Amino acid sequence: MDFLKRNFLFLAPMAGYTNGACRRIFRESGGADGCVSEFVYCRAVLSEAARVFEKMAFDDAERPFGIQIFGSDPSEMADAASLIEERLSPDFIDVNFGCPAPNAVGAGAGSALLRDVPRMSKIVSAMVGALKKTPVTAKMRSGWSLGEIAVPRAALALQDAGAKMITLHGRTKSQGYSGDADWDLIERTARSLSIPLIGNGSAEKLAAGSLRGSACAGFMIGRAALGNPWVFLKVRGEIEGREFTPPPPSKRARLALRYARLMCDGRDSGVSPENITHIRSQTIRFLKGGAGFKKARVEILKIKTLDELENILCGFF
Ligand SMILES: Cc1cc2nc3c(=O)[nH]c(=O)nc-3n(C[C@H](O)[C@H](O)[C@H](O)COP(=O)(O)O)c2cc1C
Repeated sequence: MDFLKRNFLFLAPMAGYTNGACRRIFRESGGADGCVSEFVYCRAVLSEAARVFEKMAFDDAERPFGIQIFGSDPSEMADAASLIEERLSPDFIDVNFGCPAPNAVGAGAGSALLRDVPRMSKIVSAMVGALKKTPVTAKMRSGWSLGEIAVPRAALALQDAGAKMITLHGRTKSQGYSGDADWDLIERTARSLSIPLIGNGSAEKLAAGSLRGSACAGFMIGRAALGNPWVFLKVRGEIEGREFTPPPPSKRARLALRYARLMCDGRDSGVSPENITHIRSQTIRFLKGGAGFKKARVEILKIKTLDELENILCGFF
């Protein structure tokens, strides 16, 4: 994990949002220091289906970049990690021990594993044993519920199993995405480990003093970053004691257009019904709250092509 510098800021993986186009935008806007792929089921990797490898593909501009997988069987996870290392060479391979979605939990994976620390360890050590050069990392929640907190114990077990970095989302599986993340627990866990711990859970709301005094090696930001890559510059400013000036509407519009173009590979013919819906909603997120947003929103909801979007956004330049 040589790339990790103090106060490293990761864009959180968010399935359905943090695709390659999104990650490029976040790296280019100068805020996020690194990214992680949306999670991929290890059996999907082992199927070697082209669409699965397309989903995991990334551009060098996104590095440092980790590919995240989930599963419950140590040997399947090890085989999937080997295939990823061989074909894609990411900077690290991350294990998801936090997803609360029924499909992951039902497969005995994601946050379900927080109730089975020995299996978590077996997964990480099988992957470490199978990989030639790629570090194994893990992203976990604090536990299954407030009555079943798994850290620091589970994090220490993963460190012993060979994990090189842990990201801790300070909410339990039962909390889902609501309620406060437990930053005292995150800090305690960070202090108990010798490997770097990345703190996660509404990190952008931490006071400047808490960010600066943290035992975490860095922070990961999720929902607050959607449509707002500048949240990283704001947090960086707080850590370094610099003023942050929010971007003007012209800059927001240019970034929204860059995102739309990347989503379509620069070609209008690349606009599928599926991604035009996504582009509309993401453009609205980029512009939200700025001058001229309300009027543009009505127009953006009607666009069917990249040219139409460009015409609207040019009004902001
Ligand atoms: C829509 C959505 C999709 C997510 N997908 C993933 C995922 O694929 N892998 C993962 O580890 N976490 C995933 N997460 C969790 C985030 O990475 C992050 O841990 C969580 O949102 C807490 O951070 P925040 O409070 O900064 O949003 C997802 C969260 C959301 C809201």
